[in-house]
Amino acid sequence: MGVTGGIAAYKSVQVARDLTRLGATVDVVLTHSAQKFVTPLSFSGVTGRPALTDLFSAEGAALHIRLGREADVVCVAPATADFLARAAQGRADDLICTTLLATRAPVVLCPAMNDRMFSHPQVQANLAHLRDHLHYTIAGPADGALAVGEGEGPGRMIEPWQIEEHIGRALEASGPLIGRKVLVTAGPTREPLDPVRYLGNRSSGRMGYAIAQAAWRRGAHVTLVSGPSSLAPPEGVDFVPVETAMQMREAVLGLVANTDVNVFSAAVADFRPSNPHATKVKRADAGGEMIVTLEANPDIAADTVLVRKSGSLSVGFALETNDLISNAAKKLVSKQFDLLVANDATEPGAGFEVSTNKVTILSTDGEPEELPLMTKDAVAEELLDRVCAHLARRS
Ligand code: C5P
Repeated sequence: MGVTGGIAAYKSVQVARDLTRLGATVDVVLTHSAQKFVTPLSFSGVTGRPALTDLFSAEGAALHIRLGREADVVCVAPATADFLARAAQGRADDLICTTLLATRAPVVLCPAMNDRMFSHPQVQANLAHLRDHLHYTIAGPADGALAVGEGEGPGRMIEPWQIEEHIGRALEASGPLIGRKVLVTAGPTREPLDPVRYLGNRSSGRMGYAIAQAAWRRGAHVTLVSGPSSLAPPEGVDFVPVETAMQMREAVLGLVANTDVNVFSAAVADFRPSNPHATKVKRADAGGEMIVTLEANPDIAADTVLVRKSGSLSVGFALETNDLISNAAKKLVSKQFDLLVANDATEPGAGFEVSTNKVTILSTDGEPEELPLMTKDAVAEELLDRVCAHLARRS
């Protein structure tokens, strides 16, 4: 990790810490300006390794060569305008820039600066060169609050979790999902009763968001069609927010002919009020009772069967309260899924509103696999391992 001199450098300590906790060996290099904002000690305290500052140090003349050669990925966060200019020129006047010249690992740069500086044509030209000619990933900046007194605009460094996702994606050098198009549905749907009330369910969207993020990290182009969720959209994905099952169906049918992998993890409402009121229903007008007639929503996953891209792979979900495997197996066939993730709603730690899940994965070409209780992030990885294995077998 390279850290250059911007106020966002305080966030880079979190990145170094998170990466270390994820199991990475993190060598941090700070420029002289970076040390005006954070100290090497802050980084060595979270990485357990000395943070580096000097090109010409007692550690050996070829420190930059060692760093460049050993790195699986190089990330510079924050990347200031001055650093971007030096990197674009291929300068070798500090330890970070020399390491960049010495490495052949993927490089992720996270720009951070005032919005007026960011929009300057020279900065934009430097970024274009770094991205288009050197094939560095330019992650961010985000649009939002800048340093105090500087207002808002594009220039803010992306958040630590987003930087970590970019690093994860940069590390995916090969794998069957690279360049593939993946569609994920997630979350509940809301079926209006009137303009302010709806019928819904307890789905948080967590499982689908975890799958979308993990697929993006594995190099896919991901579109996430999501019902209302309080979660932040995953980094890097095309995010299509919808409310109702009908809207979700329309969005999905518009995409599915072009996608290689479809993951239907949304908890789509099976029914919707037949005649939603145009105005808010008043208690006084309703009398003591209100009768709502429901009509069936279409089955989105089933409706895609004829439209799916040939050779594509589809994954369904089934939440059951009884006869888990036999009910799930029926859905695998009736909705023409290749894989189906079944979970028992009565299991503690599984299903809606929790961050864990206990699932059994059914496949068209193998026995059901019962996985232990694990986080939804871990379930997403397990599922994608199987998706990748299917794709590899197909090609
Ligand atoms: O039949 P059941 O609702 O259990 O099927 C679950 C699977 O079908 C999930 O993959 C879910 O996303 C999908 N589904 C759908 N549209 C519906 C109902 C379910 O796409 N209307």
